[in-house]
Amino acid sequence: MTRSSTTRRRFLAALGAAGLGGLTGCTGIGALSNDSDVPTATPRSPPSGPADTAATVRPAPAQAASGLSPDTWIYNEGFPGPQLRVPEGDVLEVELANGLPRETTVHWHGVPVANPMDGVPGVTQQPAGPGESFTYRFRAEPAGTYFFHSHVGLQLDRGLLAPLIVEESDPHVEYDREYTVVLDDYLDGAPQPLYEGTDSGGRGPGMGGGGPGMGGMMGDRRPPYAALLANGRPPNDPQRLDVREGQRVRVRFINASSATYFRVRLGGHPMTVTHADGRPVDPVAVDSFRFGAGERYDVVVDATNPGTWELLATALNGRESPARALLSYDGGTSAPVSPSATGRELSYGDLVARTPIDGLDGSPDRTFNLTLSAGQSGWLIDGQAYPDADPLQIKEGEHVRVTMRNRSPVVHPMHLHGHFFQVGNAVKDTVVVPGHMGTVTFDFLADNPGNWLFHCHNLYHLESGMARLIQYIE
Ligand code: C2O
Ligand code: CU
Repeated sequence: MTRSSTTRRRFLAALGAAGLGGLTGCTGIGALSNDSDVPTATPRSPPSGPADTAATVRPAPAQAASGLSPDTWIYNEGFPGPQLRVPEGDVLEVELANGLPRETTVHWHGVPVANPMDGVPGVTQQPAGPGESFTYRFRAEPAGTYFFHSHVGLQLDRGLLAPLIVEESDPHVEYDREYTVVLDDYLDGAPQPLYEGTDSGGRGPGMGGGGPGMGGMMGDRRPPYAALLANGRPPNDPQRLDVREGQRVRVRFINASSATYFRVRLGGHPMTVTHADGRPVDPVAVDSFRFGAGERYDVVVDATNPGTWELLATALNGRESPARALLSYDGGTSAPVSPSATGRELSYGDLVARTPIDGLDGSPDRTFNLTLSAGQSGWLIDGQAYPDADPLQIKEGEHVRVTMRNRSPVVHPMHLHGHFFQVGNAVKDTVVVPGHMGTVTFDFLADNPGNWLFHCHNLYHLESGMARLIQYIE
């Protein structure tokens, strides 16, 4: 990897990040790709003053006693990691104390933090080495269901993920209790790239290369997952979500997988979707929804149908048994009833944000038309594989429009760091672009200066190059 060191120096100067030291070598997915001579804009500073909430996140290899593979890396000895919960508006300070044998970072997926807090190695910070620490600081807003994860290499698929809940002071839907359901695809070995090194035959990822990692759809190769998990539990040992008849329960679903497009269904009850990627929407009742890696949905369920009901999350692009939990009334032990295979499924068109993004009503100041496709050794945006890819340059205050056209047969859950975007009538930070020429357009307001990743949240697609830097220039 050859990158001009003057570019790096200029970048670090623009960050104002004294003491970061030199960035040496390529740090994988976050490698700096600013080859432009244009001066970049100064990022916002993180909030100053005392923190309202402090926490420590300790990534480390799983202990033998945990029952997890020794190749699994976890936060604070749990899998998924500890749920971080804060009231909206709090200044949150989180120390990352690295107990791994490798360098790491934490990315606050979906939270529009100040750029130096975004946790992307080589782009917003130098990663914390073994035994080192890094302190993140940001205001927990807006309220919503988020998660945090490592942004180094394939560490997300090693288990470095955990929920982050920013509590609403005034939710638009009332409920009596709540659960978080983290869905994940679990590997019992160290993750390996699927499209680099292993693909010496020169076949592109969309060419149906086959092999053991081949998923259900042509070209959608997946790692050899041991199981799909709900809150860290395999399907044969499901968690019980206890309810009492008459209660309304809120369930926060997080697709924290690395490569799984889930369809979620619940037996015996409609689910009323109340939030998409943490942002409130007009409630809409459905029987199922699908979501890609990085997406979140909150639903409320009225407990009016006593019994024991299966909650199933099926891989639409894989063959593993569905992840599973049980909705269980009053501690009953009746045999669980499966959801029906039919019913109304959520579509993006059903989502109407309660708070649209201000300043996007006119025509865009800048438009990017991007093609998503398969290349010889990885996944591409407009024919380029990050980090050897042109940054998408924008200016503060602009209304930016991005259109993505998917020339491949597989879905791509595209995620923008640092901003929410408007897609149809929804406000989200991750959106699935369907295969076979699926097209999605989103708009965002350039209100958070810095260098931000925009990428496919299928970790293996990201790792092979399906990313761009969005760069604020002066
Ligand atoms: Cu979940 Cu680049 O992030
Ligand atoms: Cu992808």
